Amino acid sequence: MGKIDPSSPVPKYFQLREILLDLIEDAELPVDAPIPSERELCQRYRLSRMTVRQAVDHLVTEGRLYRVPGKGTFVARPKIEMPLRLVSFTEDMRARGLEPGARDLDRRTTPANAHLARVFDVPPGTGVHVVERLRTADGEPMAVERSHIPLTVAPGLPDTPLSDASLYDVLETRFGIVFDAGEQTIEAGIADTADARLLDLARGSAVLLLQRRSFMNGTCVELAVSTYRADRYQLHSALEIPRRSRAATRQ
Ligand code: GLP
Repeated sequence: MGKIDPSSPVPKYFQLREILLDLIEDAELPVDAPIPSERELCQRYRLSRMTVRQAVDHLVTEGRLYRVPGKGTFVARPKIEMPLRLVSFTEDMRARGLEPGARDLDRRTTPANAHLARVFDVPPGTGVHVVERLRTADGEPMAVERSHIPLTVAPGLPDTPLSDASLYDVLETRFGIVFDAGEQTIEAGIADTADARLLDLARGSAVLLLQRRSFMNGTCVELAVSTYRADRYQLHSALEIPRRSRAATRQ
């Protein structure tokens, strides 16, 4: 069992946070298990209620614990690593053993404004189909995705049902579109009221805002502007050593 070191410069609430995280990672506190009550934690680690509450609040905000009013605080499921590869939502969820879902929120065709015309390299006014969907994993809302696809590459798309279907599968099988490159920007954001409701989040919750451009033969075919739950996703990346510093270390 971890101990609080009163002489450490690390704040006590942070030490308790680390202890609780260790218990979660070692599966001593498995997913959906209740954590000890505030009173127990105060007694066990000789901490004030305020310190214990601060540690628990932090873990709730980080999505590692969740509270059920009147019942207690429980261990949340581990976050999903945001894929940094050009995979579809469907492929990604299936690879994790989760059942992907897609609920149509809105489908419309709009004339490309100057921005979309530039992105897709089409004349302004060209029809762009917008597919707005709520993406779910095992029925749980994960993201709101807004895909823009020019009709020049997928003319029959507006008449194609996409509920619980893979957009990438449809683009490939019906329109011969196979993506061969992509780029993505990820930013922190706050869920607006509509997205918060759809994603089952409290108003003002943190989200990840994604913009993805997917290409075929050098032409952008999909621009997706999406809102992902920050309490369910995290980013992980390998760190490369810059060439120059590797040479410098050797000297
Ligand atoms: C990912 C991308 C979206 C893309 C979607 C397609 O989630 N971020 O840009 O539209 O995959 O997924 P699917 O083929 O499951 O509809």
